[in-house]
Amino acid sequence: MLSSSRHALVIGNSDGIGLHSTRRLLDRGWRVTGVSRRASPVVDAAYRHHVLDVCDRGYVEKLRAILGQKAVDTCIYCAGIGGPVDPQDLRSDVHVFEVNLMGALRTAEAIVPAMVAAGRGHFVVLSSQADALVVARAPSYAASKAGLSSYFEGLGLALRPYGVAVSNLRLGFVDTKMARASVRPFMYTLDQAVDVVESVLCKRPLRLTRPLSTALLVRLLAWLGRWRVFFTRGPISPRA
Ligand SMILES: NC(=O)c1ccc[n+]([C@@H]2O[C@H](COP(=O)([O-])OP(=O)(O)OC[C@H]3O[C@@H](n4cnc5c(N)ncnc54)[C@H](OP(=O)(O)O)[C@@H]3O)[C@@H](O)[C@H]2O)c1
Repeated sequence: MLSSSRHALVIGNSDGIGLHSTRRLLDRGWRVTGVSRRASPVVDAAYRHHVLDVCDRGYVEKLRAILGQKAVDTCIYCAGIGGPVDPQDLRSDVHVFEVNLMGALRTAEAIVPAMVAAGRGHFVVLSSQADALVVARAPSYAASKAGLSSYFEGLGLALRPYGVAVSNLRLGFVDTKMARASVRPFMYTLDQAVDVVESVLCKRPLRLTRPLSTALLVRLLAWLGRWRVFFTRGPISPRA
């Protein structure tokens, strides 16, 4: 059970895991500030929503202005997008990195110094087990999550002496609009995913991977992917 009267910032919470985590935190008595591009369906006296894009120019300053001087107890970075690569236009891949990776870094830039000054705080990022994969169909999603996992686990080690915890949550499929694959093995319900988020808030692990059944499958896919990369060589014939 999470303790009450704490202040959480949830980035990317108009939908999916962020929205359900927000509702769970409010049920547990937390005060929550949410950020996303769309309005929130949540109506609660302990909830404040801000319509803001993590890719906006001035995002860091706007977030600081929203929060004021006081450190939040917890930040959960849930904003994330993904999609297939378009070889003739890579702008959407750049956008995936902006949201999944740079948005998380900018959020940390805005709030971690106050946590360090206060000597406490917890920054949680929602990465993915896809961070271990090389994916031809949607390379930006897996690669942005690989960067997210690597950076925040390193930052977590760096922040330990300052009393600030970082957790990298690596989920498999969760039943939201983001899970669009035709086959979604071992998919979590939103409730199961939020149970895991809640346990991360309690135990503050540097890394948590769930479900473990997906982790075994990902290990096999990562191994196959490495061989595919290793054996892919030589010129390819141009399309007629
Ligand atoms: N679902 C899965 O199978 C799965 C598996 C592993 C990891 N994850 C990760 O878990 C996180 C949440 O995923 P989800 O399944 O809950 O996705 P979702 O239902 O699509 O929700 C994504 C949230 O991110 C917000 N968002 C997107 N772009 C944003 C931006 N530029 N600025 C601010 N907010 C933005 C969206 O709100 P607006 O559109 O209103 O901005 C929405 O509230 C993601 O990082 C995802 O990669 C998901």
